Amino acid sequence: MEDDQKAKNTDHLYFEQIKIQRQQWDDLARMMPDILPAASTQYYRQREIALIRHHFGDLRGKKILKLDLWNEAVNTRILNWMDCQGADTYGMDISHITAYRAQQNALISNGRLRILQSDIRSIPFANNSFDFVYTMGTIEHVQEYEIVVQEIQRVLKTRGRAIIGVPHKWDIFLRPLLVKVLDLFGKYLYAPEKSMGASELKRILERSDLQVQYRTGLLLMPGFIRMADLYFYTRGIPLQKLTPLLLWPFEQFESRWEWTKKLGYLLVVVAEKS
Ligand SMILES: C[S@@+](CC[C@H](N)C(=O)[O-])C[C@H]1O[C@@H](n2cnc3c(N)ncnc32)[C@H](O)[C@@H]1O
Repeated sequence: MEDDQKAKNTDHLYFEQIKIQRQQWDDLARMMPDILPAASTQYYRQREIALIRHHFGDLRGKKILKLDLWNEAVNTRILNWMDCQGADTYGMDISHITAYRAQQNALISNGRLRILQSDIRSIPFANNSFDFVYTMGTIEHVQEYEIVVQEIQRVLKTRGRAIIGVPHKWDIFLRPLLVKVLDLFGKYLYAPEKSMGASELKRILERSDLQVQYRTGLLLMPGFIRMADLYFYTRGIPLQKLTPLLLWPFEQFESRWEWTKKLGYLLVVVAEKS
């Protein structure tokens, strides 16, 4: 009896926690302006497209799941791009505001995205459903990221591929340190956020029977340029006009030399379900 009560209390606490998390992301999504036109977002979008082309190849007829809809609501619209390439696209997010904004954007552009408001710790699809899963900057926001990885493995078809990106712990421009300092002053909007090293992420994936095939990265630009660009862009400060100039050298490196991608502030792995 006592054990039953304890289990009930733990469940209750867990669901309360999820409710609070959903509320936090809803609040953020409500106040967030659309940052698609910002120069650093366009840079991000181009790098995502190159990554997906390289590692997923031809998307026509492929069934793809994307974790989180932040990009489709206010950011790079990468799932919309996959939709335009002929993929059968599904996206999910814990926040109903983000899901709603993503849906509105898809409608405006006549997109066929299938949008769900749901938690990535329990993906509402059957085993072996997807050819590809794409997630960039999502799993590090939940403590149970290992469960999320197990869920990705479960919904992937055999030989299905996942692209998984998280903040790189060893970023040369020390973005994780900047995030820690901002968070300390309550100024980091996306907290909590865990950064990871390459071998740590590899171990997590392998524990879930996902074989890492390739390790790369995304966004060589220093994290503070991205943050400053968004700060200036959302406040209409003319300094934002300098961003393309600042980004130019990083773009040259990242688009020409494969090895430089590993220095990006997002650590990315391509993994396959065996
Ligand atoms: C920092 S934003 C995403 C950043 C974005 N992917 C990018 O590349 O810039 C985190 C997103 O994950 C969503 N999210 C957080 N926890 C989640 C969960 N447990 N289940 C589903 N979505 C979640 C949030 O609502 C938010 O849209």
